[in-house]
Amino acid sequence: EVIDGRGQILLPGFVDMHTHLREPGREDTETIDSGSAAAALGGYTAVFAMANTSPVADSAVVTDHVWRRGQEVGLVDVHPVGAVTVGLAGKQLAEMATMAAGVGRVKMFSDDGHCVADPLIMRRALEYSASLGVLIAQHAEEPRLTVGSVAHEGPTAARLGLAGWPRAAEESIVARDALLARDAGARVHICHASTAGSVELVKWARGQGIAITAEVTPHHLLLDDSRLETYDAVNKVNPPLREASDVAALRTGLAEGIIDCVATDHAPHAEQDKCCEFSQARPGMLGLETALSIVVQTMVRPGLLDWRGVARVMSERPAEIVGLDDQGRPIAVGEPANLVLVDPDSEWTVHGPELASVANNTPYEAMTLPGKVTATVLRGRVTARDGKVRPLGEAR
Ligand code: NCD
Ligand code: ZN
Ligand code: ZN
Ligand code: ZN
Repeated sequence: EVIDGRGQILLPGFVDMHTHLREPGREDTETIDSGSAAAALGGYTAVFAMANTSPVADSAVVTDHVWRRGQEVGLVDVHPVGAVTVGLAGKQLAEMATMAAGVGRVKMFSDDGHCVADPLIMRRALEYSASLGVLIAQHAEEPRLTVGSVAHEGPTAARLGLAGWPRAAEESIVARDALLARDAGARVHICHASTAGSVELVKWARGQGIAITAEVTPHHLLLDDSRLETYDAVNKVNPPLREASDVAALRTGLAEGIIDCVATDHAPHAEQDKCCEFSQARPGMLGLETALSIVVQTMVRPGLLDWRGVARVMSERPAEIVGLDDQGRPIAVGEPANLVLVDPDSEWTVHGPELASVANNTPYEAMTLPGKVTATVLRGRVTARDGKVRPLGEAR
């Protein structure tokens, strides 16, 4: 198969450290099949499927299933993320070693459900992770500061009468975990950093020699809390959309390498969980198919990042952070490659029902965005081309 890439940009396949695929448990919103299609269309060759499934991915039974199912689908490597504790808000550490040794080879453990908001559990988890050489991904939300909160604590939320979620809920955990990681000799990864203060704290911690890394989502790079004016729950997300000054700081932080990478936090939700009152709706938004376009819009077009930088934040850094040795690195001649071809000048208009995800909760509905993925290649096999996926075994 010959692909004419003239005038286009060739990049290493993207790696998403933060994807919710909802299988097992909520296949009415996403499956490993549909999520893999969304990932391939978005230019991804590896995604990390978060642990807040039902049952929770707190054992090798679940994490091995996720890996195997992803390989059967064959569109993207679906790396399972294990839960830090047994159950989502558990008190007992999960058997990370067993999950790490399974066929799913779990490399990262997360605390969806905020179990490691408990400092003692986090401290023990970091010590355990250091001994295993795995990574703890911290969602950085102090639940005792976010009770009943649905929106960023600031002028917009106050005016609209929405309960505010303060920056301190995130930043206190970032600061605390930097110090706990230091003491444990562990690495810690901050999920979906959303405030200017988090950027400052990560910078400070790294200056102290602490092994801290951080991601930012596409939506926190583009959207701010003025979106809440409509009360449309599609804009409800954890952490909440913040103020324009936070958006600016996140962009600069990503450009300067303080924020390491972009991760989608792709979070499919059913219509009935998004159409209710803002306070009742589930948090989260789709991200896989639109991530590159948002990075082009917020970082490349304004001159904050060149295409070399896109390769770094979408592929190389996430692969390095999680320790994937077959992604995000230079490819030797003759080696099957993970690649994505991007048309930098093309534009497209987002329509939720046309996305490959089962759920439709995109915050970019009807927006025209730059930068289309022309083709995605996983180990030499084309997995998506011109907006269509190529399922395994499909004849050409
Ligand atoms: C995520 C989800 O829906 O699973 N929601 C979200 O708003 N980000 C959970 C999470 O990452 O915190
Ligand atoms: Zn989260
Ligand atoms: Zn998430
Ligand atoms: Zn349409």
